[in-house]
Amino acid sequence: MNILEVDNLIAGYQTANVLRGVSITLTKGEIVSVIGRNGVGKTTLVRAIIGLLRARSGRVLFAGNDVTGDSADVRAKKGIGYVPQGREIFADLTVQENLRMGGFIGTRRSRLNFESVFEYFPFLKDRIHQRGGTLSGGQQEMLAIARALINQPELLLLDEPSDGVQPSIVEEIGQFLLHLKESSDVSVLLVEQNFDLLQTVSDRAYAMEKGAVAGQLTVSDINNDDVLAAHIAV
Ligand SMILES: Nc1ncnc2c1ncn2[C@@H]1O[C@H](COP(=O)(O)OP(=O)(O)O)[C@@H](O)[C@H]1O
Ligand SMILES: [Mg+2]
Repeated sequence: MNILEVDNLIAGYQTANVLRGVSITLTKGEIVSVIGRNGVGKTTLVRAIIGLLRARSGRVLFAGNDVTGDSADVRAKKGIGYVPQGREIFADLTVQENLRMGGFIGTRRSRLNFESVFEYFPFLKDRIHQRGGTLSGGQQEMLAIARALINQPELLLLDEPSDGVQPSIVEEIGQFLLHLKESSDVSVLLVEQNFDLLQTVSDRAYAMEKGAVAGQLTVSDINNDDVLAAHIAV
């Protein structure tokens, strides 16, 4: 089953279209990456999938249902989790409060699943009373992922989780994604430019150029640094 189908999506800002007819699909349980240079429209695509940006044309189907007309909070309640580029955690709130903020948007489950989130990120349990802003960049990224996971999404959208994160924690995020994949049927759409992370977790990838999908990469393409560099490096 396709957990996500994006069909000929056009979206943008003011008078300019950024996405010029993007079509992608994700099968349940897959980790699919979206790669491309800065400015090609990766974040715009993710924002249109979660519903922070309205489609000007085209459709977004989640688990077979058309959600194109739904607001971002409705899509979140239906089971799409979103971790924005730059994380956007609440620096002055504690770890626990940040996790609860994630819970406010998703009332689809009767209670928040703190324990399962701590299973993925044990360090958070020891820091529940610590302010988000005192965590390292990488720890903040993990907190933002945990905040999305607490609603038990079926699809997780991750926008450049390695951005501003030290290599050892990028590796931890990669291990987390592999653990998530083997222990659940959560599907992941990963926007990334970090070769190690892409090569550790991707089942396949879409390469974007100028607001459109320019090609698809298999695992062996992704594991070839030259192929990745051709789509990512300047
Ligand atoms: N809020 C905005 N208003 C106007 N233009 C924007 C906005 N956000 C992004 N853009 C433009 O849209 C294009 C795609 O940006 P973005 O989706 O952030 O690219 P990427 O994530 O691939 O780096 C860029 O040309 C960028 O300048
Ligand atoms: Mg971006």
